[in-house]
Amino acid sequence: MKVLVSDSLSNEGLEILKEHFTVDVSTGLSEDELVKKIKDYDALVIRSGTHVTPKIIEAADNLKIIGRAGVGIDNVDVDAATKKGIIVANSPEGNMISAAEHTIAMMMAMSRNIPQANASLKGKEWKRSKFTGVEVKGKTLGIIGLGRIGSEVAKRASGLEMNLLGYDPFVSEKRALELGVKLATVNEIAKEADYITVHTPLIKETRNILDEEQFALMKPTTRVLNCARGGIINEEALAKALESGKIAGAAIDVFVDEPPFDSPLLKFDNVVVTPHLGASTKEAQVNVAVDIAKEVTSVLTGGPAKNA
Ligand code: MLT
Repeated sequence: MKVLVSDSLSNEGLEILKEHFTVDVSTGLSEDELVKKIKDYDALVIRSGTHVTPKIIEAADNLKIIGRAGVGIDNVDVDAATKKGIIVANSPEGNMISAAEHTIAMMMAMSRNIPQANASLKGKEWKRSKFTGVEVKGKTLGIIGLGRIGSEVAKRASGLEMNLLGYDPFVSEKRALELGVKLATVNEIAKEADYITVHTPLIKETRNILDEEQFALMKPTTRVLNCARGGIINEEALAKALESGKIAGAAIDVFVDEPPFDSPLLKFDNVVVTPHLGASTKEAQVNVAVDIAKEVTSVLTGGPAKNA
C-alpha cells in the first residue's frame, strides 16, 4: 500500500510507516498537483500546511484514511471525506503539553513586556520603567475550553497561584473542581477575568466566541490570548478593543489568515505575536508523527482508528 506525506513529518513517524508501506514525501504541492497524485495512494498524512479540499477528495479513489499529525482538522473537508468513506483521524495528545506551555509563555511574555524589552535593548536602548509589567499571582484566568489543552493550562496556572474560571459545556462541576476551576459563562468570564485564553476547536459554535459583545464587558486591564485557532476570537473586534484602549493587551499565536501579514493585530505595541508555534517543539513533533503513523498503520492493516 502507498502513503503520501504532504507536509513535513518527523523521521520517527516516517520510519514506522516505512516498515509497512511505500512512503512518498512530497511537500508544498498545489491543489491541482495533489488532485493528480492522490488517486495512487491509500493514505494521506498531513499537518496544517495541506488543505484537503473537496476537489482533492473527489479524486482520491483509493484513499482510506487522512491522518492529521496534530489536533486541528479544520484544514480537511471532513464532510466530503466522510461521504466518500475516507476516515479522517488526528493525533490529539502528542502536542497538548507544548500548546499549554506556549500559552503560559505567551501570558508571561505579555505580562512582562519581554518581546518589546528584548527588541528595545537590542536596539541599544536601556529603558526600564517603560517596560514595567504586572504579576499574574492572584489574577483571574478565564479558560474557554477545558479539554486536553485547556486542562493543562489550568494545571500550570494553578501553580502560578492564579484564580481560575472556565467555560466548557462538556465539562462537569466535578471535573472542573478537580482542576481548581470555577465554571462560568463566557460573558461572566469576559466581565471578571484579568486574562482570557481560548482552547476550543474552531467550529461554528466557537467561531467569534469572543466578539464585540464580550470585549464591551471586559476591564481595561484585561488581556486575551489565542494559541488555539484563528477565528475563535473575532480579530476585528479585538483590534477595535485594542485601538480604543478597552483592553490592556493580547497574545496571539494563530490567525484567520496565515501568514497574517495584513492583520491589523501586528501593528499594536501591546500585542505579542508568534507564527503558530504552539505545537512547535521537538517533543510534540515526534509525538504527533509517531501517533499518526501508528493510526494510519492500524487502519491500513485492518485495525481500528482510535482518533477518527
Ligand atoms: C494543531 O492543530 O495540532 C496545532 O495547531 C499545530 C499544527 O497546526 O500543526
